[in-house]
Amino acid sequence: MSERYDVIGIGNAIVDVLSMVGEEFLTANGVQKGVMQLIDADRAIALYGAMGQAREISGGSAANTIAGLAMLGGKAAFVGKVKDDQLGAIFAHDIRALGAEFSTPMAPKALNGEETARCMVLVTPDGERSMNTYLGVSGHLGPDDIDADAHAAADWTYLEGYCLESPDTRAAFAKAIKAAKGAGRKVAVSLSDPFCVDRNRDEFRRLVREDADLLFANEHEVESLYQTGSLETALEAARADIAMSAITTGPTGAWILTAETRQHVPAAPMERVDATGAGDLFAAGFLYGLTQGHDLTTAGTMGCLAAGEIITHIGARPEQDLKTLFKKTGLMS
Ligand SMILES: Nc1ncnc2c1ncn2[C@@H]1O[C@H](COP(=O)(O)OP(=O)(O)OP(=O)(O)O)[C@@H](O)[C@H]1O
Ligand SMILES: [Mg+2]
Repeated sequence: MSERYDVIGIGNAIVDVLSMVGEEFLTANGVQKGVMQLIDADRAIALYGAMGQAREISGGSAANTIAGLAMLGGKAAFVGKVKDDQLGAIFAHDIRALGAEFSTPMAPKALNGEETARCMVLVTPDGERSMNTYLGVSGHLGPDDIDADAHAAADWTYLEGYCLESPDTRAAFAKAIKAAKGAGRKVAVSLSDPFCVDRNRDEFRRLVREDADLLFANEHEVESLYQTGSLETALEAARADIAMSAITTGPTGAWILTAETRQHVPAAPMERVDATGAGDLFAAGFLYGLTQGHDLTTAGTMGCLAAGEIITHIGARPEQDLKTLFKKTGLMS
């Protein structure tokens, strides 16, 4: 990675396997609704066997964000680990095809046992997504995969919260943070999932308070971070901890908070088919706005519009050209 990037995202490199299911499928198969559960290879095979017709679409939370940024014309790179197998090739192709840089060394084909990560995404008729993730080689992303110079040069280093589950990737984060902060660059972190926050709360709290400049979360995640059932309490706690927060609130939009300011930006009026990737694309639009020098209201509106596109169809990668969509609504000239 020799160039200078607006944003370098570090996250799990995952191919999503999406299927529409009824509510009863979740109950019958012990799937917890609306959250992410980690599963092993055997459970992945069993669930896949039980699912109806499915579609494979590249995913990964931070990878979706980087894909959206690249599509908008931002200079973006992704760091994550796939294996030299069929799903790994699909993942690498898709993210590069959108103009993002992706050059993390693949785990070799000869490696026995683990494969490229996949996530069974079960979408219910209400548009909610329930995820079951086999992490495979993705959790092996470590410090050797981090190019410190690239993070020292990038405006933003964007960290996917799910990665805190892996000790190797925590160490990779530490290296990237040190490089970025040492060079006066900024760090953003996304909380990813309320139960992931619950399992790793101390480290998330430390990360938000000490290392990060920008927090992305949905309302459930920020409430989990501060162990409160009150969104208001959580928003004020975030405001006291970190320079900037963008807290999404689903169909109503998002809160944008700084020490001095507090505003709510409305969601784009879109019909929700599949929520998968809404938070990720919100982050893409918001970071695009910030790196283009827009004010917070405009950046928030860009986040909501990019998120609005993603919920109108199955999968967490944009289907419409985001630039065209932004031009149509006057957000881009
Ligand atoms: N029904 C909706 N209509 C319009 N926009 C929506 C709707 N739901 C979500 N959004 C947009 O998506 C953004 C993020 O949504 P949400 O808070 O549900 O993220 P999330 O829970 O992280 O999503 P994900 O399922 O991808 O993890 C919102 O700020 C909003 O702009
Ligand atoms: Mg989310």
